[in-house]
Parts: sequence; C-alpha cells; structure tokens
Amino acid sequence: MKNTVTRLSEGIWQVGAADPDCTRFHGYYIHRGTTYNAYLVRGENGKFTLIDTVRDSKASELIGNIAQITPLSQIEAIIVNHTEPDHSGALPVVLQNCSPRIYATAAAAKLLKSQYGIENAISVKAGQTETIGGREFTFYPTPMVHWPDNMVTYLAKDKLLFSNDAFGQHYAANALLDVDADYTVALAEARHYFANIVMPFRAQAKNAVDAALSLSPKTVAPSHGVVWTKHLPDIVKLYKELCDKPSASVCTLAFDSMWGGCAEEAANKEKELREQFKEVHVFDLRKDHISDVIDALSISAHLCLGSPTHYLHPTARIATLLAEIETLKPPFTTFSLFGTFGWGGGAVKCMKEKLEAFGYTAQ
Ligand code: FEO
Repeated sequence: MKNTVTRLSEGIWQVGAADPDCTRFHGYYIHRGTTYNAYLVRGENGKFTLIDTVRDSKASELIGNIAQITPLSQIEAIIVNHTEPDHSGALPVVLQNCSPRIYATAAAAKLLKSQYGIENAISVKAGQTETIGGREFTFYPTPMVHWPDNMVTYLAKDKLLFSNDAFGQHYAANALLDVDADYTVALAEARHYFANIVMPFRAQAKNAVDAALSLSPKTVAPSHGVVWTKHLPDIVKLYKELCDKPSASVCTLAFDSMWGGCAEEAANKEKELREQFKEVHVFDLRKDHISDVIDALSISAHLCLGSPTHYLHPTARIATLLAEIETLKPPFTTFSLFGTFGWGGGAVKCMKEKLEAFGYTAQ
C-alpha cells in the first residue's frame, strides 16, 4: 500500500502511512510489512475529525496526506482509539498544527497524559455518542483488544466501524479495500496478527466481535491492513473460530536439531501424527520462525515438541518458544514430546515440567 490518500466513502479518507519494509512488530516476525491507518472525516460544518494517527517515524507522511484534504488547522477533533505508539506516536506533531478536542477512554486519557503530557482529553463511556461537525460518533470500549485503553468508534449513518487493532492485519497490500487486495492473504495475516497479539485475550476479543456484530456494520476499517467490506463475514467468521476451541483435527509439530537426530525423529513423529490428525503443521526451528509456530498453535488442539538436550535443557530456540507459549497462551490442550541427547538427557523432562506448569496435559 502506497502512502497515498484513499477515499473510503463520501467525506471519509484514509490518510495514514504504509511501512512495507517492516519485518518485526513487538519483536515478532511479520511477512508483508504493515500499515498504520488513520482516518479523516469531514463534518457537515466543513471541519474535520481525525481518527487515530501513525507511529512517530511516519508523522510527515500523515501530515502530508491530511494537507491534501485540508489545512491541519481545520481539524476540530481527534478520536484516539488506542494510545500504543503505532497509533499515537504522531499525535504531538499533529497537535503542533491544530487545537482539537480529543476523545478517548478514561484509560487512554491517563496514558495520553503520561506519554505525551496531554491533560485535556475528554473521557468517553461505552455507548456514548458525540455529534462532531454534524456527524454522530459512538464509542465502544474494547479493553485488552489490545490494551486496557482500546475502543472502537462507530459512524451509524455510514454503518462504518473504526476498529483500531481488532480485525487488523500486518499487510501492506497494494490497495486499501479487501475487494481490491488479495483478501485470502489478508485473512492469513489477520490470523498471524491475532495469534501473536490478541490470543491471550480471546475472551475479550469474542466480546468485541459480538459488540461489532450487534452494530451490523457494512464496513470495518482497522488501523492496520485492509478495510473489510465484501469480505467482512469472512474476517468475523475467522475471529469467531479463533476465539472458540480449536478443532481436534489440527496439530502442530515443532522441533529443533543440533546434529540431525531430532530432525530424523521429527520425520517419524510427523508420519504418526498424520495418522491421528487431519491437519499437521510442521516447523523446523533451525529455519522457521517462532511467530509462525504461534500462528499454527492458534488453531491447534495438540502440540508435539522435540528438542536435543543442551546441558540438561532444551535448546535456546525451544526455550524461547516455551516462553512465548507461556505469554500468549495458545488454546491447545494436550502435548507430546521427544528428544535426543549424546551423553546426558534432560530436555524432555524440562519441557514437560514447563508445559504442565502452564496448564497443558501430557498425552
Ligand atoms: Fe496497533 Fe496495539 O497497536
């Protein structure tokens, strides 16, 4: 997606920035860059509301895009759906050019003060509607999707939901709308995003999906990736599946290897697993990224994990995967283990102790 202004509907534009070369987000690996979407809404009074901004390093693109529509001085309100720096980092630069009212949740208002010294943000409550420039904006907090401060903003007349992180994808596509981009890629990236960011908060994400559906939006405009229109039912279906129990027919096999022994054993394990499971996702951590394992674990009921022993412990790559499992809490329930060693074992015992401590059951 290029850094160009895109008209979304009458009087509504996407004015954010693309970051196609970005490969890391929160430290996890992303495949197709990302975008920081911000939206500009023209009121009936000819003034403007800005919904979210972009990360600080992209402030000049945002400012330039807004300037194609209006002088920044005409921005009368900014809606901050979330204060994480990828959406709020350019706020100080925008505020050098205008003096808008700022709307945010109470949690976001506190963070705006601590992060940027902004003291006058107006705290909004669930279901509160504000008429700004003749347009009615309604706010719905969505705590922990992705921070406690998150909310979504709905324009009922346009049936347009600005969903911020929810339904987002790290995907710098060649177009803004799902109908013009490759929506199957967008769905795959939405799952990768959900697994690596939202997964620990599946219950809250389910609430957000239910709330979004109750509004019957026709368009959902997240702050990353493509905007959902025709394929909105597909992303809603995906979120429902990801928030539900994973299918018992899907499993993930992940392993590391030092001298090839564990890789050989993994090949045997894969054959066994393919007899038990319809879908087996296999990852060799010598070349595959842990973020992709986490992605597969978001839909798996079982994990099969293998590691050589490194001085009584699993390898550093397996230890990192275990740390990510502890943090992101994928919904698989059972695990099986295998390992190799030369002169002394310990990896399997260590992996078992950790996975059981995280609440998973050995099979
Ligand atoms: Fe895209 Fe939680 O920020």
